[in-house]
Amino acid sequence: MAEYIAQDILEEIRSRTDIVAVISEYIPLKKSGANYKALCPFHNEKTPSFMISPAKQIYHCFGCGEGGNVFNFVMKYEHLDFSEAAGKIAEKAGVNIPRQFGADKKMQSLFNQLYKINEAAADFFSGHLNESLDASHSRDYLKERGFTQKTLLDFKLGYAPNNWTALYDYLRHKDFSVEMIEKAGLISPKGGGGYCDRFRNRVMFPIFNLYDKVIGFGARALEEKQIPKYLNSSDTPVFNKGKNLYGLNLAKREIISKDRAIIVEGYTDCIRCHENGFKEAVAPLGTALTEWQIRALKRYTKNVILIFDADQAGETASLRGLDLLISEGIIPKIAVMPAGFDPDKYLLEKGAEEYEKIVKNAPDFFDYKVNLLRLKYKAQDPEGKAGIAAELLPTLARVDNAVLKSAYVRKLADVLEVAGTDILSELKKIKNVNYSYDKNEIKKISQDSRVDMAEKILFVLMLEDNNLIKEVRNALRPVDFESDGMRKIVELIFDFAEKGKEICPSRLIDAMGGNEAARLISSISVDTPEITDAAKNLNDCIRTIKRRNIDKKIKELKAAQRKAQGEKISERTFKLTVEFAQLVNERKKFARSVK
Ligand code: CTP
Ligand code: MN
Repeated sequence: MAEYIAQDILEEIRSRTDIVAVISEYIPLKKSGANYKALCPFHNEKTPSFMISPAKQIYHCFGCGEGGNVFNFVMKYEHLDFSEAAGKIAEKAGVNIPRQFGADKKMQSLFNQLYKINEAAADFFSGHLNESLDASHSRDYLKERGFTQKTLLDFKLGYAPNNWTALYDYLRHKDFSVEMIEKAGLISPKGGGGYCDRFRNRVMFPIFNLYDKVIGFGARALEEKQIPKYLNSSDTPVFNKGKNLYGLNLAKREIISKDRAIIVEGYTDCIRCHENGFKEAVAPLGTALTEWQIRALKRYTKNVILIFDADQAGETASLRGLDLLISEGIIPKIAVMPAGFDPDKYLLEKGAEEYEKIVKNAPDFFDYKVNLLRLKYKAQDPEGKAGIAAELLPTLARVDNAVLKSAYVRKLADVLEVAGTDILSELKKIKNVNYSYDKNEIKKISQDSRVDMAEKILFVLMLEDNNLIKEVRNALRPVDFESDGMRKIVELIFDFAEKGKEICPSRLIDAMGGNEAARLISSISVDTPEITDAAKNLNDCIRTIKRRNIDKKIKELKAAQRKAQGEKISERTFKLTVEFAQLVNERKKFARSVK
């Protein structure tokens, strides 16, 4: 990641930036000893477990495992890529990042090139829609659907010609490299060599990031036989379907001023909302709502109204979105369109006033879900009651506010005509659902925190006194460390030391790249005791690690021996026995000296 900004510039930014000053612009901090504490902005919590170390210039949350240096924080908080975050921090620090467009392409960041290509493509498509003769059917189509000229301009809609290489030729003519055009997801390689345009004969909906940069496209078919109806850009370095919301760049101001956001399903629904004065509308990009998207919204409002089509797909999507929203601390309202309508059609046929009623009267998630479940179960029957409770309680359990939760418990007890205490005792059986990470992420966090204490201490010692690296290097190899992450870190430390580079957690984080590395390094940097006797600790830790690895080998060998004996392979058994004896001997060296 870091290679897109010259190393010396990055150093300059780093040396002029204080992580405490930067983060305090985003969230309130409290001094706590040598460090600072705060409520973690990346997960819900009531007591602060987010920590910033000015000495190490890193942050780490003991609650959710998020962590890294100042670049990671701004990337995460603002949903920016590395070069955008670095640019922002550079601005605060008064560092000039040289950007040389056109003349020296190699100096341009990959991201900037991709933005430029996407922008050029959007220009090409909108130019075609407005002027080209062969686009008349797409102009008619949009006119027939009732989109105003202003809408077409605001959303920069376009038309991709019915031609295999129109865009490709245009972009090549503009001197964009084939490699970059392919990276931007705008062309695909052809079987017999060469490339063809990904989007042909479609209405183009450019997708913008928060900063009005085109990052990808949604493309609607114009003919019935064209499949799929919507073709979206595939994910690229600048485009991720789960991390952007359609229309948010245009909606963010309105969301703040109205203090509410409307989430609809489709591009056309979103556009139609804006056209009718509902400029607080956004849409996901053809996938179910993600926590990234919710967190992006949460920065502007806590009042979210989901409006979904009256079909099965809408229902499933809304139920998943609802649980995620609640986990993120948002109590959403949910409106279902009358049968046969989506917001686009509803606004066209019934108008803004009627639509506002739907938005205003949208039931909260509880009533919505109860109503759905009443259709599925007989609320009169005991089994029906149990079924409703079983499906509703996991959602209720995600509600963080205790008063609210207990109010819903009472409500549910009333609906089912059972005792509130029974609902409560069922609710208590549901554990640990109020997290906002997916299961894989949880697993990763717990793996991170399992880094062996001896390895952690060695890491801290090496960073505190770079002269100690040599000693560790003489005694251990990177593979002697337990996890892949630690091995890579140690390898990097050795490498830095060899090249005489200065080593600190923040630099290691940038050199490793990636969120997982940032979390791991921040967690082992902050989560360590004060170390007084460095030399003794160093020795103890090296021995502990060696002993642990020998123990592991002995265990493996025993298993191999047992297997060889079972298979009566005497030569192999003999070899293993000799090896075993050697290991046990070596093990003795470590037995006494370490507790
Ligand atoms: N979608 C998609 N791929 C498809 C179909 C739909 O990515 N093959 C996504 C698009 O983001 C679309 C949304 O799902 O906007 C909703 O789909 P749908 O309701 O079918 O489309 P509408 O937005 O209503 O589009 P239109 O009004 O043009 O039919
Ligand atoms: Mn629709």
